[in-house]
Amino acid sequence: MADRSGIFITFEGGEGVGKSTQIRRLADRLRRAGHDVLVTREPGGSPGAEAVRHVLLSGAAEAFGVRMEAILFAAARNDHVEEVIRPALETGAVVLCDRFVDSSRIYQGVTGNLEAGFIEELQRIATNGVMPDLTFILDLPAEAGLARARRRGGDEAPDRFEKEEIETHEKRRQAYLDIAESEPLRCRIIDAGRSEDAIADEIIALVEAATDDRVAVEQVS
Ligand SMILES: Nc1ncnc2c1ncn2[C@@H]1O[C@H](COP(=O)(O)OP(=O)(O)OP(=O)(O)O)[C@@H](O)[C@H]1O
Ligand SMILES: [Mg+2]
Repeated sequence: MADRSGIFITFEGGEGVGKSTQIRRLADRLRRAGHDVLVTREPGGSPGAEAVRHVLLSGAAEAFGVRMEAILFAAARNDHVEEVIRPALETGAVVLCDRFVDSSRIYQGVTGNLEAGFIEELQRIATNGVMPDLTFILDLPAEAGLARARRRGGDEAPDRFEKEEIETHEKRRQAYLDIAESEPLRCRIIDAGRSEDAIADEIIALVEAATDDRVAVEQVS
């Protein structure tokens, strides 16, 4: 953090845990307090990354295997870092990013069958030294996530497909908790099973604490 004045915060966790909701709320609160905030997401976020995103989402890379896809994701991340995130941090902005390196570690490494060493090498190149100052890992049991989805859907007990989904979700969830345990200075586990307000209040308090009140909601800068 020594060579830059901004704050880089990432949000991680499984599908539907509330990442986008909490990013929106944190951005609103910080902007109202006078902070310059950039909200961005992956894959994409810069013209070069959007071009690669198009290749990935069209399925054109799929035939060349998961390693090819992982390298393309890393290329997109590097462009996003160099063209968008690093310049914003250099101007002193608070950058909020929806998914970053931990998603690659988990989705491509843990449940994507790529070796951890290969993924780590790619992340080293992709981030080129720009790692989050703070990462919120929104943690929700698979059953609770499924219940949220079912409130919209309306079925009963999980069928076989949903059971597989639950197992995969729990595997990813545990992998996120393992990352948090191994990087306690960067990561904060957030109980995502509570109300949106309670989660938002905890997140802002943790941001203030982690930045020695450099980023505060009361402050008008
Ligand atoms: N604390 C909460 N309690 C109950 N429902 C919530 C909570 N936070 C978000 N939701 C609802 O859950 C759904 C998913 O939220 P959101 O889109 O923020 O999650 P996400 O992690 O960004 O999902 P995705 O991985 O699909 O992008 C939305 O319908 C949202 O309104
Ligand atoms: Mg989202």
